[in-house]
Amino acid sequence: MEKTPICVVGCGGMGQRHILAYKELENSGISNLDLVAVCDLRADNAERGADQVEKLFGKRPMVYTDLDKMLASPDIGAVDVVTDPSTHHSVAVPALLAGKHAQVEKPLGITVRASQAIIDAAQKAGVVLATSENLRRDPPNRLARAVIDADLLGKIHLMIHTAVGGNDQMIITPWRHLKEKGAIGLDMGVHYTDIIQYYMGEYQQMFGTGLIVEKMRRRPDSHGLDLESYKERYKEMPEVIEATGEDSVVASYVMDSGAMVQFSYIGGGKGNHAFERSVHGREGAMYAPGDRNGNQVVLKLDGRELRGKEILGLLPDFRMNEITERLFGEGTVEYDLNFPEIDAKHMAIEFHDFGESILNGSTPEVDGYVGMTAVAAILGAYESAVAGRAVTLNEILSGAVSEYQDEIDEALGLI
Ligand SMILES: NC(=O)c1ccc[n+]([C@@H]2O[C@H](COP(=O)([O-])OP(=O)(O)OC[C@H]3O[C@@H](n4cnc5c(N)ncnc54)[C@H](O)[C@@H]3O)[C@@H](O)[C@H]2O)c1
Repeated sequence: MEKTPICVVGCGGMGQRHILAYKELENSGISNLDLVAVCDLRADNAERGADQVEKLFGKRPMVYTDLDKMLASPDIGAVDVVTDPSTHHSVAVPALLAGKHAQVEKPLGITVRASQAIIDAAQKAGVVLATSENLRRDPPNRLARAVIDADLLGKIHLMIHTAVGGNDQMIITPWRHLKEKGAIGLDMGVHYTDIIQYYMGEYQQMFGTGLIVEKMRRRPDSHGLDLESYKERYKEMPEVIEATGEDSVVASYVMDSGAMVQFSYIGGGKGNHAFERSVHGREGAMYAPGDRNGNQVVLKLDGRELRGKEILGLLPDFRMNEITERLFGEGTVEYDLNFPEIDAKHMAIEFHDFGESILNGSTPEVDGYVGMTAVAAILGAYESAVAGRAVTLNEILSGAVSEYQDEIDEALGLI
């Protein structure tokens, strides 16, 4: 099978998770990408990434600490941008203009201008651009979308998406609390605004606000994931930092379909955690379990409740794509797996989609535009608070409303 040689750029926490996912893709038997190089400004991270690749694949990849040198290599056809969000455009734009296909981790850019610059570069160079968005690949989300597509809920009027709860510890890295670095309200929020658009279609209008619930963030007690780079990061972290970027976002959206969405992501506070992802229509309601837990989708129709795989009985035409079936098993819409396995499978599915687009010239499921609209939905909430009114997606995408972002674009040198 033809494979595009690819370089992982950014071998921090998520870069290491990507490397594990390339192995998962390889194990699927239908890999279309060949991990031949790693690149990181930090030589220690680049070398650690290379060690990890060598251990998993039995072959040491090329190692770069200089982006331009890597881009000059004719042996690399694509880049996988896994650097921290405020640097995505400064890595992706030169890579795309050098003729490399690129998949860029979410958020595509930390402003609309940064995201648009990446999209423009891909168009100019005529290469493939994908946004790495893993959560929609989760089989329960695929099932939820199939329920909506099959019109089992009838005319949909409302989606509720609530993810509330956190603490005052830094979330993985200090940059996740700094406005000009892509704070967690955006960094985590885009996952949810992508799920909203995946379920409900395109955004039309938005009204909301960003919040800093926890002003002072202290060094976390533990790192959650057993990856070397995370452990080292924790040692490097200051005891405490003052947050300048939002850790929370609350918004109402009007979708193109006319349906409303109530959304909240609150990444702090000492109360109980709360999660709901539900869609309500004239004929029924659906409760999705969230992401990466393998729990059941629950469908409530007139007097009937169906759970998980029971729902498949109402969806005779529903099938997940080949890579998803290979990794999760045919017809699997609920599962019991550990986090690293789930995480690697989701990313292997998104990588495969990118690889197919390179080989076939198809558009990736989450292309630059879809990545940018997820970003615009969060920034639109922040912008509406500054403007004191609801704003449209078009106003955010066109730059007609940008006061919140101007300060960030200035810091990034984009204006
Ligand atoms: N989809 C998910 O589930 C998920 C989870 C975590 C992180 N992410 C995303 O992954 C990305 C990286 O996050 P992270 O937690 O790994 O960050 P991180 O800070 O741990 O790692 C970033 C790495 O990029 C390197 N880097 C920065 N600028 C560079 C440049 N110009 N050239 C080469 N290397 C450069 C840094 O040295 C560092 O090693 C972010 O976009 C984040 O939103 C996604």
